[in-house]
Amino acid sequence: MPDRLDPRFDLSFTLNGAPVETATTTATALADLLREGCGGRGTRLACERAVCGACTVLVDGVPRASCSVFAFEVEGCAVQMIEGLENDGELSPVQAAFADNSAFQCGYCTAGMILLTEALLARDPDPDEAAIRDWISSNICRCTGYSLILEAVRDAARRKRETAP
Ligand code: FES
Ligand code: FES
Repeated sequence: MPDRLDPRFDLSFTLNGAPVETATTTATALADLLREGCGGRGTRLACERAVCGACTVLVDGVPRASCSVFAFEVEGCAVQMIEGLENDGELSPVQAAFADNSAFQCGYCTAGMILLTEALLARDPDPDEAAIRDWISSNICRCTGYSLILEAVRDAARRKRETAP
């Protein structure tokens, strides 16, 4: 039976470069839509209060805490999740840098950290140390002590510059 207080309505957006036509409600968080409706299980939920950044996705290239964005807000937008970064089974330079630098332990924060790094390097291909630390400070890692994450971001920046057309 339709819920008259929270009716479903159509929603169109682009997810990892592919068009999505789905339905949502006014109360659905983007994270829940991605995880339950779009198979985006790499989007992690932790605090669900826009504090930890584990649920970070890119909306039109901007990092957003998907736990705290309503799904209807992405109508017509381009959403990027961790699942869409690899290309034909090949990790993106940022993913490869995180893997090669072992920049994770439990891995719960990693998808958000990688997407955050993608957004940073899209804006600034050669960020200085202060810019990296400032940018990464929006996301919390409970395991690594951050030094390997910082090294992965530096390494990702190098890799992307070396492979830039
Ligand atoms: S789960 Fe969204 S910011 Fe923590
Ligand atoms: S690797 Fe465990 S929270 Fe970051």
